Amino acid sequence: MTGPFDFIARPSGPLRGEVRVPGDKSISHRGVMLAAIADGHTRVTGLLEGEDVLATLEAFRAMGVRIEGPRGGEVSIHGVGRDGLRAPAADIDLGNSGTAMRLLAGLLSGQDFDCTLVGDDSLQRRPMRRITEPLSQMGARIETASGGTPPIRVRAGDGLASIDYKSPVASAQVKSGILLAGLYANGRTCVTEPSPTRDHTERMLGAFGVETVRDGRRTCIEGGERLAATEIEVPGDISSAAFLLAAAAGRPGSDLLIRGVGVNPTRIGVLTILERMGADIEWFDRRTAGREPVADLRVRGAVLHGIDVDPALVPLAIDEFPAIFAAAAAARGVTRVTGAAELRVKESDRIAASAEALRALGVSVRVADDGMEVEGGVISGGAVDSEGDHRIAMAFASSAVTAPVRIRNCRNVATSFPGFEMLARSVGFDIEAVDADH
Ligand code: S3P
Repeated sequence: MTGPFDFIARPSGPLRGEVRVPGDKSISHRGVMLAAIADGHTRVTGLLEGEDVLATLEAFRAMGVRIEGPRGGEVSIHGVGRDGLRAPAADIDLGNSGTAMRLLAGLLSGQDFDCTLVGDDSLQRRPMRRITEPLSQMGARIETASGGTPPIRVRAGDGLASIDYKSPVASAQVKSGILLAGLYANGRTCVTEPSPTRDHTERMLGAFGVETVRDGRRTCIEGGERLAATEIEVPGDISSAAFLLAAAAGRPGSDLLIRGVGVNPTRIGVLTILERMGADIEWFDRRTAGREPVADLRVRGAVLHGIDVDPALVPLAIDEFPAIFAAAAAARGVTRVTGAAELRVKESDRIAASAEALRALGVSVRVADDGMEVEGGVISGGAVDSEGDHRIAMAFASSAVTAPVRIRNCRNVATSFPGFEMLARSVGFDIEAVDADH
């Protein structure tokens, strides 16, 4: 479907089968970015061909990087070297992608040309000072719109100075943007995060021959190093697998095998949370793809129960809360999430959007600034709005409904999970995409 569309999810039985989910979005972005500024030719396989990553590919094409593909998840990127990017002819449009914008802000701060980064309505509302402030401290000539939102304008500067930055937010995008700018700075740039976040940038820089040093919550990079082209194999995205895992975990009789999922320790919070709720998840065939751990995950249906989610797990499951809230609504008892205020500044305000959707389906919730309490029970029928947020759309399309649910505004599912509806149907969901009726 090309125009706006909704999903209709109907009650269905247990979920069964063996599937692979599309490539990891975070790793795909980083693969493209680092390959583009490396010396030599990098082949990336398993790339997510979702709109967010396609926007990153187009951004580098616009800056003079020759890229063949993507075709069947494969791209060939002819790196231009650390100083080889050229000024784009127009503003760079990053669509819905916060990762692309914040990481590129860092990378572009080190270039000798002017450039403006813009995005769609959702991205244009998201906070960018968290990245532009530390970059300004490094000497970047960078500014946002007056509210701290995009567009981000970066102007050619006189070189960057290193910083030792203590980030007030647990954000891999902020950490990564600073480390990428650090590649272009004099000396050693360090970022300390309040709690650990995904470390894909650090692992991938290592794969391109630039090692970062981690000491506790502080990560450092030396400026001036060059990246050497390599081969990148992108594992399946645990954030996409999460919708299937959460749904199957709570449906007795389900037995689902998801092959080739990235199980980086900084991403598996959702597995721990679901297991604490009573989920039966087994890991098989643990291996590595480049520097990333991968496994096949088998989930068998059980009766889930509510828990108090440990706030330390929040950054390790930050994208999975829509799926976790939906699982909690179908579980026995109350689930409490705290320490998750960051959910309010994702593709939508995911606390408000999830709460509104759950209430529309007859679920009791109590909302706080930094989280939510969900009273488990039964999810009834009705209509909800994804607010254009891909993960809200997929969480409610795959939740255990007892009567048909219409999820409005689902087009952005293509940003992270192209083919979601077909794959979901193949394992037993009753989901249909229909033209929007509004
Ligand atoms: C991402 C980091 C997280 C996550 C996002 C992808 C990344 O954002 O929510 O989907 O690839 O670095 P924050 O850094 O804002 O927590």
